[in-house]
Amino acid sequence: MTIHIGAKPGEIAETVLLPGDPMRAQWAAETFLSDPVCINRVRGMLGFTGFWRGNRVTIHGSGMGMPSLSIYANELIRDYGAKTLIRIGSAGSMQAHVGLRDIVLAMTASTLSTPSRGVFRELNYAPCADFGLLSAAHAAATARGIAAHVGGIYSSDVFYDERPDLNDQMTRHGVLAVEMEAAELYILAARHGARALAVLTVSDHLPSGAALPPEAREQGFADMVEIALEAAFA
Ligand code: ADE
Repeated sequence: MTIHIGAKPGEIAETVLLPGDPMRAQWAAETFLSDPVCINRVRGMLGFTGFWRGNRVTIHGSGMGMPSLSIYANELIRDYGAKTLIRIGSAGSMQAHVGLRDIVLAMTASTLSTPSRGVFRELNYAPCADFGLLSAAHAAATARGIAAHVGGIYSSDVFYDERPDLNDQMTRHGVLAVEMEAAELYILAARHGARALAVLTVSDHLPSGAALPPEAREQGFADMVEIALEAAFA
């Protein structure tokens, strides 16, 4: 057990999918894994370990934002030996051509700051995905007829953003979408020798203000989980 994860040693797989929402972790485990077992309930942050096509997988909530993700990713990697971590979550499109329900594979994740800011000090470190996972996810999406967008995203510390001018600069510089976790996941994976990727579904479209209704989000989430699983075991 760690401070935030109640799993016993060996109960967490080397491959971990990380949705922000613990209820999504439960839904994904019950929908896609065989024999899912709940291995964490501490603070309501649910985690499940089961099997996908014979491969052992854990699906564990990360919470919202980089400070929360940092707690779980640190403990999963350093205490439980996780080696492949794939965030599955929603994002806000920052480009007219990246539409609602589209899938974004985050090649890089720009930030203003992450929990690792103090480590890097004046260095503008460039958090990036594992290339093997990225190319496998792209192939998996293509095989199911999904034209996934591949490129840079923005990992923000705020959902309710007071800096529209900054978002405009992101859009101008080709950033595909905004979410709140990937940059710190990529940094922690790099620091500890693990592989990481973020597979995202567009739930809202900043240029037009459009947003998916809650009931329309599930199918996009299902594609994302399957792309992540196929990439992890390619
Ligand atoms: N996740 C989904 N939509 C988002 C947005 N607009 N900003 C930050 N994170 C998000």
